[in-house]
Amino acid sequence: MNIYQLLRLNRVVKNHRIKFLALYLLHKFNRRYLAVNFDPVLACNLRCKMCYFTDSDYVKTLKGQFKEDDLELIAERIFKRALKLQIGCGTEPTLYKGLAKIVALGKRYKVPYISITTNANLLDEEKIETLLKAGLDEFTISLHGVHKKSYEAFMKKASYEKFHKVFKSFEKLKLKYNFKVRINYTFNKDNFHELSEFFNHFSGASFDVLQIRPIQKIGNTEYNDFDLETIRSDYGRIIKDIKSACQEHKVTLLASDKIPIVGGLNSSSFIFDYTFCYISPNKFWKPNFKWREQTFDEFSKEIAWSKVLRNNMFKSKSELKNINNRLNYEIEFY
Ligand SMILES: C[S@@+](CC[C@H](N)C(=O)[O-])C[C@H]1O[C@@H](n2cnc3c(N)ncnc32)[C@H](O)[C@@H]1O
Ligand code: SF4
Repeated sequence: MNIYQLLRLNRVVKNHRIKFLALYLLHKFNRRYLAVNFDPVLACNLRCKMCYFTDSDYVKTLKGQFKEDDLELIAERIFKRALKLQIGCGTEPTLYKGLAKIVALGKRYKVPYISITTNANLLDEEKIETLLKAGLDEFTISLHGVHKKSYEAFMKKASYEKFHKVFKSFEKLKLKYNFKVRINYTFNKDNFHELSEFFNHFSGASFDVLQIRPIQKIGNTEYNDFDLETIRSDYGRIIKDIKSACQEHKVTLLASDKIPIVGGLNSSSFIFDYTFCYISPNKFWKPNFKWREQTFDEFSKEIAWSKVLRNNMFKSKSELKNINNRLNYEIEFY
C-alpha cells in the first residue's frame, strides 16, 4: 500500500473511534504510525511573499541546525515508528549538508516512504541523483506561479530557469529511477488563473502529482490578500479544465472541486495530532521529550501515551480538539 492509498483510507474510514483503536494497537505493538516531519535546518534561501519567511519578527525566531553527529541518534529514537519521513516541513531542507544522510538513515530504518519538500532552486541533477541513490521516494516541489513573472514575484530570490532545469533533470532521471514528483501549487486570487496554462510550461513526463491548495494565513507575510471570493465563480471551471489536462498527461490531480474552507475540521483531521511528529533543532515530537537521554518508548510511558490514544476512542468528535494553526500537508481536502 502506498502513502496515497493510506491517506485515502484515512478519509474513507469516517469513524474516529476505529482510527484511534488502530493507532492504539499500532503503538502498543511497536508498529509504525507516525508522520515524521523533519526540519534539519531553520533557514531558507528564498523569501516567498506568501510565506512567514517574509515576516521579519518570525524569521528572527528561526535559528540553528542539527549537527550531523546528531542524525544517527534522531533516527534511532523515532524512525522505527515512522510510516512516512517528510524532510522539509516549515523551512528549506536543501540548505542542509547532511540531507542525503537523513534519507539514507530513513532507508536504513526501513521507513516506507521518504519525501522531501523543497523549492528546488538549490537542486541539480547530481544532487537529485544522490538523494535518489540514498533512497528518496518523492520530491514535493513548491510552486507559486506558472509564468516566470509571477513565479519570481511570488517566490522572491528564486530563478524560473533553475526551476525548469530541475524539472528537465526529473524527466531524465525518471527513465532510470523509480520516484515521484509532486508539485504543490499554493494559489491566491492573483496566481490562480494561470493554472489553466500549466501544461504549456511543464512537461507531464517530469512530474506525477499536481496538488492545488489555497493560501492560508501563516504569519505577517508580505502578500496578505487571503480573500478568494473573486475567483470563486471561475474556480470550478478552471479545476475541471486542469483535471482533463492532467488525465491527458497521466498526472494525478489533488484539488478540491470547490474552494476549500481552510482550517475546517474533517474526519481525517481528528487523528492528525496523534500521528504528526515534528522535529527541528527547537522541537522533538512533544515538549519535555529528552530525546538525547530517553527512548521513544520510555517517554511514551512517562506521558501515558497509549492511555491517551485509548481514551480518545471514547471521546466524541467535539471533545477532540484539533490544532489547525499550522500547515498540514497530510490531510488533503479533495
Ligand atoms: C513553508 S514551505 C517549507 C518547505 C520548502 N521551503 C518549500 O517551499 O517547499 C512548505 C510549503 O508551504 C507552502 N506555503 C508557503 N506559504 C503558504 C501560505 N501562505 N499558505 C499555504 N501554503 C503556503 C509552500 O508553497 C510549501 O509548499
Ligand atoms: S515557501 Fe518554502 S521556499 Fe518559500 S520562503 Fe517559505 S520556506 Fe522558503
